[in-house]
Amino acid sequence: MTKREKRRMENRFPPSLFATYLVTLLLMSGIHIGLITLVNKYQWNQFVQIAIPLAYWTMVAVGLTLFTRHEIIKTYDRPMKELARAADRVAHGDFSVYIPPVHPSNRYDYLDRMCLDFNKMVAELGSMETMRTDFVANVSHEIKTPIAGIQNYAQLLGKPGLTEKEKENYTAAILSSTHRLSALITNILRLNKLESQQITPKYETYDLCRQLSDCALGFETIWEEKEIDFEAELEDRATIRADESLMELVWNNLLSNAFKFTEPGGSVALRQTSDRDSVMVEVSDTGCGMSEETKKHMFDKFYQGDTSHATEGNGLGLALAFRVLQLMGASIGVKSEEGKGTTFTVQIPVKEEATDL
Ligand SMILES: Nc1ncnc2c1ncn2[C@@H]1O[C@H](COP(=O)(O)OP(=O)(O)OP(=O)(O)O)[C@@H](O)[C@H]1O
Ligand SMILES: [Mg+2]
Repeated sequence: MTKREKRRMENRFPPSLFATYLVTLLLMSGIHIGLITLVNKYQWNQFVQIAIPLAYWTMVAVGLTLFTRHEIIKTYDRPMKELARAADRVAHGDFSVYIPPVHPSNRYDYLDRMCLDFNKMVAELGSMETMRTDFVANVSHEIKTPIAGIQNYAQLLGKPGLTEKEKENYTAAILSSTHRLSALITNILRLNKLESQQITPKYETYDLCRQLSDCALGFETIWEEKEIDFEAELEDRATIRADESLMELVWNNLLSNAFKFTEPGGSVALRQTSDRDSVMVEVSDTGCGMSEETKKHMFDKFYQGDTSHATEGNGLGLALAFRVLQLMGASIGVKSEEGKGTTFTVQIPVKEEATDL
C-alpha cells in the first residue's frame, strides 16, 4: 500500500475538501471586496453599507454549512446508519445482510474496510449458525434410531409368554443399540475435544508395525465371517513419534471401512513402507468404491455416502481420522473408483524427538 493510499484509508475527508473551502473563501472574499468597492463608489447610506456585507456573509455561511452537512451525511452519516440497521438485522438472526462499500475497490477508506469486515463477520456467523443447527439435527437423527430400537425391544420384552430364546434376542438387540449410542457419544466427544484442542497429543516413540498388526487382528472375526481375503505387507519395524492411542483410531476406522464396504469374497490389503522422511500406510479394498460426491464429503462430520450401510456407524470415523492426522502433521489421500475399490494412503513424517511439541 502506497503512502497516499494509506493516508486515504485513514482519512475520510480528503485534502480536496480543504482546496474546495480555500477556493470558495478566496472567491467570496473577492466578491466581498467588489461589493465594498461598489458601496464606496456609489456612496450608499450607512445602513446599506452594513446590511450588504452582513447579508452576503450570512449567505456564504449558509452555503458552506449546507455543503458541509451534505458531505457529512454522504460520507459518514449514511454509511453509519446503514451499518446500524445491518447490525440490528444480524442481532435479530438475519445473516443474509450485506453492506456494499461506498467507494470502488481502488479508493477504499477505513469505513469501506469496516463494511467489508462486517460482511465477512456476518458470513462467518451465518456459517457457524448453519454448522450448529446441522450438527444438532445430525446428532438428534443418529440418536433417534438406537433409542427407537431400545423402546421397541423393551416393549416386546414386556409381553407375556415369551420364550427364553426370544428374551435373549430382545436383550441382545437392546444391548447392541446401547453400544451404538455409547460409541456415537464417545466419537462426538472425541471429535469435539480434538476440534476445540482440548486434547494435547501424548507423543511417544513406538513401533507402528506392531500397532498395525494389533489393529488388523481385531478384525479377524469379520474377515473370516465375510470370507474376505486379507493380506498384510508390513516391514519388521518402523518407529514413528506420534500419539499411539489417537493413531489407533485412524487405523481402526480405515480398516473397519475397508471390511465394511467390501462384499463377501473380496479382498483387503494393508501395506506399510518407509523412506528417509516418512512412513507410508496403505489400506486398500476391492469394495464398492466411492462416487465423486462421496469423495468430496467423506471427511465431513456425519456424512455417509453409501446409505445401505447407514445402520453401521454414524459417518464420524473419517472426520475423526482426518483431525487426528492433521494434529500429527500427517496427510491422508484417497484413490477410489466406483465398483472397483478404494485405497487410502497415510503419510506420516518421521520426526526427530527434539522437534516435537
Ligand atoms: N473403503 C471405503 N469404501 C467405500 N466407501 C467408503 C470407504 N471408506 C469410507 N467410505 C465412504 O465414506 C463415508 C464416510 O466414512 P466414515 O468412516 O466417516 O463413516 P462410516 O464408516 O459410515 O461411519 P463410522 O466411521 O462412524 O462408523 C462412508 O459412509 C462411505 O460412504
Ligand atoms: Mg468408518
